[in-house]
Amino acid sequence: MNDFTTPELTQHDEEIELSLRPKTLREYIGQDKAKENLNIYITAARQRAEALDHVLLYGPPGLGKTTLAGIVANEMGVNLRVTSGPAIEKPGDLAALLTNLNEGDVLFIDEIHRLSRAVEEVLYPAMEDYELDIIIGKGPSARSIRLDLPKFTLVGATTRAGQLSAPLRDRFGVILRLELYTPQQLGTIVTRSAGILGIAIDPDGSLELASRSRGTPRIANRLLKRARDFAQVLGDGTITLPTTQTALNSMDIDELGLDLIDRRLLKVMIDQYNGGPVGLETLAAAVGEESITIEDVYEPYLMQIGFLGRTPRGRVATPAAYAHLGIPQNTQSATPSAQLSMEGLS
Ligand code: ADE
Repeated sequence: MNDFTTPELTQHDEEIELSLRPKTLREYIGQDKAKENLNIYITAARQRAEALDHVLLYGPPGLGKTTLAGIVANEMGVNLRVTSGPAIEKPGDLAALLTNLNEGDVLFIDEIHRLSRAVEEVLYPAMEDYELDIIIGKGPSARSIRLDLPKFTLVGATTRAGQLSAPLRDRFGVILRLELYTPQQLGTIVTRSAGILGIAIDPDGSLELASRSRGTPRIANRLLKRARDFAQVLGDGTITLPTTQTALNSMDIDELGLDLIDRRLLKVMIDQYNGGPVGLETLAAAVGEESITIEDVYEPYLMQIGFLGRTPRGRVATPAAYAHLGIPQNTQSATPSAQLSMEGLS
């Protein structure tokens, strides 16, 4: 996948993100619905001097789930512990994390859908009753002991709530879905980030960057730094509309933020399958990406901008996708169901 447009976190991003990350709900831009509700729950929990109920955040990568977990901890005035599903290999790893928490602390588990079954089993009583059941020893002499845990808040993050097992999902009192950002919201984020990093950018440059960042702050912040490089070497250092256009065109990112793989996906659907429907696995094989990456990373944005639709029989490219790629639409030979799906989507 293209390094510039991957919403996955890279090592380098991590340092930058830390400094850009808002610390309070007031500073956090966008996700208004999630923010308003979270504000009520945090205020209420604080008034009652209780730990906040467990929170599940779901949505495409790069939208600020870790940032929100940090904000929850900060607003509640407690510590944040950060880990991830794959990092918790054994029940004992989770036990170590849980027994080191203080009253009210936030434990953030990223990619929580990747917890093993055995670890999940330990998590259920921990979440529900703040109790830890651990087995000591093996075989006939094994015995179970129960430890009281501090009342903590689990903040779990996943790209799709449907990936979670039902018993785990049911134990979250708060479930918040994060949405892709609008170009206006991303423009505000880019301007804020530029201010923090000391990068000169004008409003047209911000909006252009924002419009080409696939609704994702992590991508916007990364492209901001690359646009600065172009502005510095080819211009006078200020990111303007023309420098942004030059930078993004050079990185093969088009006016809507689509990269080579997005365009290849659409072209395969159009050229080889007459616009669809095409099965997900077929598409994945044709572009050489994993199907889960297509579902979690590429499709949300292509659906948001109305270029791709999901039908029971597979994915379809919409008339807007044909228009964007400059390919005339041959509706005569499209299958009736594909036409129907496209009409429904346009
Ligand atoms: N940086 C990354 N995401 C952000 C957001 N939602 N608000 C403010 N700054 C951000």
